[in-house]
Amino acid sequence: MSTVLAFDVYGTLIDTQGINEQLQELVGDQTPTFSQRWRDKQLEYAFRRSLMGAYADFSQCTRDALEFCDRALQTQLSDNDKDALMATYGRLPAFSDAADALARLADSSKLRCVAFSNGSREAVTGLLEQAGILEHFEDIVSVEEVMRFKPDPAVYAHLHNRLEVAAQDIWLISSNPFDLIGAKHAGLHAAWIRRSAEAPFDTWGGDPDMTVSDLNELVNRIA
Ligand code: LAC
Repeated sequence: MSTVLAFDVYGTLIDTQGINEQLQELVGDQTPTFSQRWRDKQLEYAFRRSLMGAYADFSQCTRDALEFCDRALQTQLSDNDKDALMATYGRLPAFSDAADALARLADSSKLRCVAFSNGSREAVTGLLEQAGILEHFEDIVSVEEVMRFKPDPAVYAHLHNRLEVAAQDIWLISSNPFDLIGAKHAGLHAAWIRRSAEAPFDTWGGDPDMTVSDLNELVNRIA
């Protein structure tokens, strides 16, 4: 029987901080605050839309969060600036360990790899392709297929139904604690890619089944 590794995309395989160089030119010293708040707000909008039953493409959450940060931090970005930032968001880089680790996983006959994201299938395909890692995935499962966002239980149920495997035969691989807690709540296994030794895990919701510092350590442990 095979085990499925379901990789979260933004923040796990793809470095959302890759936007910072361009932000630096536009907002200078406010870059760290802007960048963190943009990401936090993007996720908050996804959570809220799921709760409200008001699904929109994840890129809409990203754009709306960008507009909010511009307003909140009074950075007065032009429409052209925002369009350029959104375009860069569609070609963010992969973390440096991703390509090697995924290639090593391809040698394992027991493991199947899929990408599993809040992003649309089209956005995630483009992102992984330009980052040079698309070939390592047998499929891309997007929450758009159920019009809910992580950590709604419906998206994890969709993942195992679509892959036709039991929930306990799937490992969610993510750097995002909210996603890992959501996956465990839905009966999946959860591996935390703790890229920073200072990154805290939530104090409720259960611990991940495995914690590693990067994707290579994950492969050493799991393959
Ligand atoms: C994703 C977000 C949670 O890729 O980062 O699903």
